[in-house]
Amino acid sequence: MATKDLSKVRYHVFLCEGDSCTKRGACDVTSTLRAEIARLGLDEVVHTTRTRCNGRCQDGPIVIVYPDGIWYRDVSTESAAEIVTNHLAEELILHNTLLYQFRAERNDPKYSSDNDTDAK
Ligand code: FES
Repeated sequence: MATKDLSKVRYHVFLCEGDSCTKRGACDVTSTLRAEIARLGLDEVVHTTRTRCNGRCQDGPIVIVYPDGIWYRDVSTESAAEIVTNHLAEELILHNTLLYQFRAERNDPKYSSDNDTDAK
């Protein structure tokens, strides 16, 4: 069993694999997101956890990124890759698939829609 060095982790990503999200492609989203993390060498700084239902089935597949408190909806394999290349690698939120932002510090420029990406 592996023991991850948590001291380098900057992001914890929750990948919903409840029944509804799974029916809508969540397992492919998980595979793509994890492969993209590996491809970009982000394994040490991003930890992923598959979860059961997060209570937003109609918006699934759901991907949640902490500590930013960002909930992404309708995540496809394409947008899963974009979450990695934009959010996890460059700290750019994908506003076109943003469901909810939990974090209170909303004046942080990182959360401005001015930082929107071209990601679909
Ligand atoms: S199964 Fe993913 S939110 Fe319900």
